[in-house]
Amino acid sequence: MFEPHGQPTPVVRGRRADDVSACATALVAVHETDGYPVEGVTDPEAWLTPENLLRAWVAELAGEVVGHVCLTAPTDSNPVAATVRAHTGTEAAGLVVLGRLFVLPEARRHRAGELLTRTATDYAAVAGRRPVLEVMDKDRAAIRFYERLGWRRIATTGHDSGHGRVPAHHYLGPAR
Ligand SMILES: CC(C)(COP(=O)(O)OP(=O)(O)OC[C@H]1O[C@@H](n2cnc3c(N)ncnc32)[C@H](O)[C@@H]1OP(=O)(O)O)[C@@H](O)C(=O)NCCC(=O)NCCS
Repeated sequence: MFEPHGQPTPVVRGRRADDVSACATALVAVHETDGYPVEGVTDPEAWLTPENLLRAWVAELAGEVVGHVCLTAPTDSNPVAATVRAHTGTEAAGLVVLGRLFVLPEARRHRAGELLTRTATDYAAVAGRRPVLEVMDKDRAAIRFYERLGWRRIATTGHDSGHGRVPAHHYLGPAR
């Protein structure tokens, strides 16, 4: 679909309000393939625009929106923030949560995911905050991907999906 004449290069840019609908459509396709997010996608646009959203980006490949990532502000009660505080002493105000990362299945392995993640972590570094994230144990491609980019597992726990606890891990982003 994206490479009839060679390897297209992904472009990452800030998400605009009129991107949310394309991101929601992509998310529904990702959920069908990967079961991500475990909460389901009954209202994908609401899931993509949480109250504590700080910043969001999209990846384009050959001019189409194929991927997404965002940063949210952690609350003191956020389980990832609590884990990081226990491990490093860093309070929630010094952290950002990287999440809602996904790339359409047919657009993967073009480094769109890597470019999205690096863009978000670069932004966090400029803001002087350490990025953290939660990943489900079943999302093995994502775990391999984060570890290759230098993320470090600091805890194994459970995530409340709304229909039961799902095994999950907490990760700390690479220090800059
Ligand atoms: C995790 C995810 C975002 C990665 O997206 P992606 O765009 O495929 O990411 P990249 O292309 O940067 O890297 C994926 C792999 O392809 C490899 N790759 C990238 N370009 C390549 C190329 N030209 N040739 C061969 N391999 C390549 C990368 O080295 C990487 O390998 P790794 O799995 O060993 O780390 C994607 O798999 C996804 O959406 N998964 C479902 C949702 C999910 O689990 N999200 C995370 C929730 S916490």
